[in-house]
Amino acid sequence: MNRVVVANWKMNPPSQKEAEVLFKASHSLIKNIKNTKIIICPPFPFLFIAKKFKNKNVFLGSQNVSSEAEGSYTGEVSPKMLKNMGVSYVIVGHGERRLLGDTNEIVNKKILNLLKFKLFPILCVGENKRESDGRYLSFVEEQIKNSLFGIPGTQLKNIIIAYEPIWAIGKNATREATKDEFMEMKIFIKKIIADIYSPKIAHSIIILYGGSVNPQNTKSFIEDGGAEGLLVGRDSINPKKFGAILSALN
Ligand code: PGA
Repeated sequence: MNRVVVANWKMNPPSQKEAEVLFKASHSLIKNIKNTKIIICPPFPFLFIAKKFKNKNVFLGSQNVSSEAEGSYTGEVSPKMLKNMGVSYVIVGHGERRLLGDTNEIVNKKILNLLKFKLFPILCVGENKRESDGRYLSFVEEQIKNSLFGIPGTQLKNIIIAYEPIWAIGKNATREATKDEFMEMKIFIKKIIADIYSPKIAHSIIILYGGSVNPQNTKSFIEDGGAEGLLVGRDSINPKKFGAILSALN
């Protein structure tokens, strides 16, 4: 079975030299991994380093993109620039970007643009908190419906969805999700996709789990929770831990 592991380096490491060391370490870990597609997402200034490393299981990803295709937008990076840098995948709607102002409408615009330039969006969704009355379900439903607005069913094979509850990601995480919480959400997301598109499309869409993924919980999300892959933040910049995550998958 083909699994997907996304390494989200976030705003790390601080220098080109350290980024090269990290690329090198990640690639030597990946060498012997089979049946897993690995997508490394360094910060923009280090994308170019990936050119030095080649492996058919490894793809280059970006952590963000402009919602505009081209023009006078100071500080923005366009889909075409990413494409020309060798990027294949782009994370959109990450919880940390949503906190900085990315709305569902902006995320939708980014996805439409990425698809135009034949880049694959990794759409992150996830609630801030889990209310006992289940309101988080409608929150995620709205994120998905609005983010995918106007996107034809034929394009869904080019989109990966990552369920990343905000409360489980990054340094401020209160806890990781459980395999059951992930499984509930996976079924729910597939139902939304089936309602908008078709059961066939829902069946084939890849859904990842992200949020405090570590070597200890990897197996349970994949084998018991039914995740088709993982989005790894902090532990993706620690080669020892990242290696253990990859080994747990094989
Ligand atoms: P984390 O980050 O693994 O450090 O929780 C995941 C993410 O934010 O993508």
